[in-house]
Amino acid sequence: MSPTTTIASVPALAEVEREAKGCTRCPLAQGRTQVVFGVGSSSADLMFVGEAPGQQEDLQGEPFVGRSGQLLDRMVLEEMGLTRDRFYIANTVKCRPPGNRDPQPVEIAACHPWLETQVDLIDPKVVVTLGNFAAKLLLGTTEGITRLRGRAYPYRGGVLVPTFHPAAILRGGGDLAAQMRADLVRAKQYLTGDGERP
Ligand code: URA
Ligand code: SF4
Repeated sequence: MSPTTTIASVPALAEVEREAKGCTRCPLAQGRTQVVFGVGSSSADLMFVGEAPGQQEDLQGEPFVGRSGQLLDRMVLEEMGLTRDRFYIANTVKCRPPGNRDPQPVEIAACHPWLETQVDLIDPKVVVTLGNFAAKLLLGTTEGITRLRGRAYPYRGGVLVPTFHPAAILRGGGDLAAQMRADLVRAKQYLTGDGERP
């Protein structure tokens, strides 16, 4: 018996990543150093979805390795007690937009199937979206993050907890940080089965 029968999502996700590495479905393919597919445990109960790779991510090939990522790691450790090996992180678009501009609607739409496949294969209990782009895409809404956050939403058999992007915390300071910490505590409650069904 193959040991992969019990962890089928591991080779499947690696296979999808190999395919994504050559993706040219949108114009962002032209300016990238490499595709930043995602990182972490493919059997995680928790998945974070950010916006787009920045300069460091584009160079290193891993999401959230710059200043935003360091802040995210610290807050997740402090509020949820988890390190990177315990969750999975990906972005709404997998290639760096030139000069860190916002990802465009056509780019987000072109990249969406990669994200959907990641969510399907990892099948997390809790998805935490970081910032406007991921929340709007996954919840199918035009509502902004300030209104969306503060509660959980049903999502693909699990729940979705929207919160701010860590870059907004770096810019905006204490008040936003406290709200983001509360969102992470909320996500933890759903992970441990203490959250009320949204
Ligand atoms: N910001 C994001 O949204 N994603 C990253 O990977 C890095 C910064
Ligand atoms: Fe493909 Fe997504 Fe990169 Fe566009 S951003 S080229 S859709 S991987």
